[in-house]
Amino acid sequence: MTVPRQDDGSFWIFGYGSLIHRPDLPWVERTVARLDGWSRRFWQGSHDHRGLPHAPGRVVTLVRDGGATCGGMAYRVPGPAAEQVLAALDHREKNGYDRHRVTLDAHLGRRLEALVYLAPPGNPAWLGPAPPEVMARHIHGSAGPSGHNRDYLLELADALEALGLPDDHVHDLAHRVRAL
Ligand code: SIN
Repeated sequence: MTVPRQDDGSFWIFGYGSLIHRPDLPWVERTVARLDGWSRRFWQGSHDHRGLPHAPGRVVTLVRDGGATCGGMAYRVPGPAAEQVLAALDHREKNGYDRHRVTLDAHLGRRLEALVYLAPPGNPAWLGPAPPEVMARHIHGSAGPSGHNRDYLLELADALEALGLPDDHVHDLAHRVRAL
C-alpha cells in the first residue's frame, strides 16, 4: 500500500486505539477525525503487548460497519521522520495489523487522506466477537510486556471521553471491567 503523502513528504496517520493517547511519534499537526463505515472492536488478540503468546489479550481493530462512524486522532508526521516512524509503527502493529489507506473527516469539512493500521478478520491473531461479559473478564485478567490489558481499555475509554468521542462498545466494556 502506498502511504498517502502530502506535497512536503509528511503523511497523516489515524489512531483509533492506543495511538490516540500514546502515539509515541513526532507530529506537526493533529486533529480529531472521523472514519465512516467502520467500528472499533476489541476483537484482535495481542500476543506481544497486552497478552502473551499462550494467553493473548484483547485489543482494538476496525471492522466494516455500514452506517457506523469511528472517532479518533489523526497526526501529521513530518516528512524527514516518515521512514523511521513507518518502521516503528510496522513493528508496533506487527501482530496482525496491515497498512490501509482511508479518507477521514475532520473539522470544518476538511478531508484527510490517511494511513491506518487495522487487523482484518482471519489474521493469525484474530479473536473475533464474544459476549461482552466474557470479553470484559478476558481483558481484566490479561497482561503482557506493555502492561495490563485493562489499562489499555480504561486509558482508551478515558481518552475517548476526554475528546468527546462516543463509543458504546468501549464504554460498556470499561464499565464491566471497572465493576470486576
Ligand atoms: C491504533 O491505535 O490506531 C491501532 C491499534 C492500537 O495500537 O491500539
